[in-house]
Amino acid sequence: MQILDGKLTSAAIINELKIKTAQLHNEGKKIPQLAAVLVGNNGASETYVAAKVKACNEIGFRSSLLRFDADISENKLLGAVEELNNDPEVDGILVQLPLPKHISDEKVIQAIHPSKDVDGFHPISVGRMVQGLPSYIPATPYGIMLLLEHYKIDTKGMNAVVVGRSNIVGRPMSILLSSNSNPGNCTVTICHSHTKNLEEICKGADILVAALGKPEFVKAEMVKEGAIVIDVGITRVPDSTKKSGFALKGDVDYAAVAPKCSFITPVPGGVGPMTIAALMMNTFRACRENN
Ligand code: GUN
Repeated sequence: MQILDGKLTSAAIINELKIKTAQLHNEGKKIPQLAAVLVGNNGASETYVAAKVKACNEIGFRSSLLRFDADISENKLLGAVEELNNDPEVDGILVQLPLPKHISDEKVIQAIHPSKDVDGFHPISVGRMVQGLPSYIPATPYGIMLLLEHYKIDTKGMNAVVVGRSNIVGRPMSILLSSNSNPGNCTVTICHSHTKNLEEICKGADILVAALGKPEFVKAEMVKEGAIVIDVGITRVPDSTKKSGFALKGDVDYAAVAPKCSFITPVPGGVGPMTIAALMMNTFRACRENN
């Protein structure tokens, strides 16, 4: 069993971006700038956005963080996005999800100009990705593809099973794994809450992506010997032995599943850091394409 080390791989990507950004600086070209928008004070969202801003600082990107109270009106938030669309200094816009219930995620996502859509959530970005055209790929599935590529895993012809059909992870992951690329060229099954015989389907996977957000859902009996397991879950569960009061749990019962795998991602230190690296790749690209 080999661990797919997202922390190391992400650090390598971030280092490469750091070198390229220094080059831009030396050539007097525009330095990438990411604008992050955070609404309310969801603990996990705070952590994710802080990690994104930290990565920008480490690379030498510029970043701005716009914070709004949870009771901001939808119109006001849409107005803030429009201002960022019109700001030539801003290359990428990221509105951290989930948003408060009174605000439509869809409306806000669709308000972001596709040329600044570094999250790849806009329907234009998604449509381009589905058709195999150049587009911004959502950071989590993009990060997973970069991780498979880094470890030179040839996925051609594999049976891939994706558990979870969210717009952020499961659905784009299924598209990327089935696309005519390497990694890619998999035969993909996408599973969700109404899937029958889930255990049996998972057991047929050469590559299993767990992205349903249920701690330790994937048990050893659901995994084929020699499978590649990608754990996207990262749920906070109460743990009084931790200073923070919680432990982070993946969607995979790691201790039981890992010995059966050819490759597996740990939690933390697997998909999480790769998501950040992928967002930074998108931001760099947005800057190069828009300036
Ligand atoms: N919430 C969970 N994952 C993501 C992500 O990748 N981007 C944004 N904007 N919000 C998220």
